[in-house]
Amino acid sequence: MSEKLIMETEDKFMANVYAKRPVVITHGKGAVVWDVNGKEYIDCGGSYGTCVVGHCHPKVVEAIKRQAERLISCHGSLYNDVRAKLLEKIVSIAPKGLNKVFLSNSGAEAVECAIKLARKFTGKTEIIAMMGAFHGKTMGALSATWDRKYRDPFKPLVPDFKHVPPDNLEKIKEALTDRTAAVIVEPIRGEGGIRVPPEGFMEGLDEICKEKGILLILDEVQTGFGRTGKIFACEHWNISPDILCAAKSVAGGLPIGLTIARDYIMECLKIGEHSTTYGGNPLVCAAACAAIDVLLDEGLPGRAAVLGKYFKERLQELQSKHRLIREVRGLGLMLGVEFKFEVLSIIMKALDRGVIVLDAGKNVLRFLPPLVIEKDQIDQVISVLDSILKEEESDRLSSTPSYKNA
Ligand SMILES: Cc1ncc(COP(=O)(O)O)c(C=O)c1O
Repeated sequence: MSEKLIMETEDKFMANVYAKRPVVITHGKGAVVWDVNGKEYIDCGGSYGTCVVGHCHPKVVEAIKRQAERLISCHGSLYNDVRAKLLEKIVSIAPKGLNKVFLSNSGAEAVECAIKLARKFTGKTEIIAMMGAFHGKTMGALSATWDRKYRDPFKPLVPDFKHVPPDNLEKIKEALTDRTAAVIVEPIRGEGGIRVPPEGFMEGLDEICKEKGILLILDEVQTGFGRTGKIFACEHWNISPDILCAAKSVAGGLPIGLTIARDYIMECLKIGEHSTTYGGNPLVCAAACAAIDVLLDEGLPGRAAVLGKYFKERLQELQSKHRLIREVRGLGLMLGVEFKFEVLSIIMKALDRGVIVLDAGKNVLRFLPPLVIEKDQIDQVISVLDSILKEEESDRLSSTPSYKNA
């Protein structure tokens, strides 16, 4: 199929719910993907953060091939060797005390399970989430998500979800009632603009939850698996969540969701109260086992810390050169650059020049590259952004006389 025909076919038959970029990606390796014409791109979107170990990591590919020849499908009602291996690995790297896992197929599903778990375990209904939060788009997860553009068309949502201003312990305290089951929070808000919480917030939140007997649910779907420089972002703080959700990168790019909880919490779910047909299928489990081995053997969280610091410093250099940038923020290789204007034009120009980058809200560029990205690839990304910003600056100066005050 030609590039044009591929695009036309997707546009014709696929639900029109993705803001499509006009490229047809056909293969990838490490931090690089290629389009149907052979053009190379440095992938700072990492397929929305799923490619922590890089595209088509040879060990993940090998594990998938080997497992595909043995067994692809095995429902959770039967035991399976690879699934057992994966569960053991997950618990061995999970924060202390989180030792029981529900396996599903996506981030939203991981959150759905956490919500059900919190309600069943506590016998209470209220869930407190943050303004600006993103937890997915299925009805339960959507009820915890903040953005009105995602929520409003689907009301009424699940009742008893409350949103409070983020990073504000007093507002959380005020929102608690004797019907509150849990607080759900992203350690770093991803979709919400790459927002790292202020010092003391996570510890304070943990303390409030412990004091009031409320469950703390961490949504590490985007921050988990090495992205921020630790295996889980919660390790940056001295906190102990009751339930942790992960997904995206866990299986080297295949669909997976994890809800990891303390055993006595997970045990409140009885047979049949929660399940999903594909959850824990051997093919995905084999990929996830390999991806976890790669994460640990290649020291990827440490690499994210070192290269993330380098990338952030280089972005800050751009900020000092270009007045268009308002702020650079993030942790590890989860970085955001806030501009004084909408970033779509920058995203499209970058794409044209061989760099894939995401947005996080209208004004923020988001970088979630594979953790195997090389320093010289980061330098190339910086150089592309530098050239784009120079052009943007001169375009804006010539077209907007009052720009000086922007
Ligand atoms: C923090 C967070 N939670 C949940 C989700 C939903 O994950 P999925 O798209 O796999 O359903 C996302 C997706 O971006 C996310 O970033």
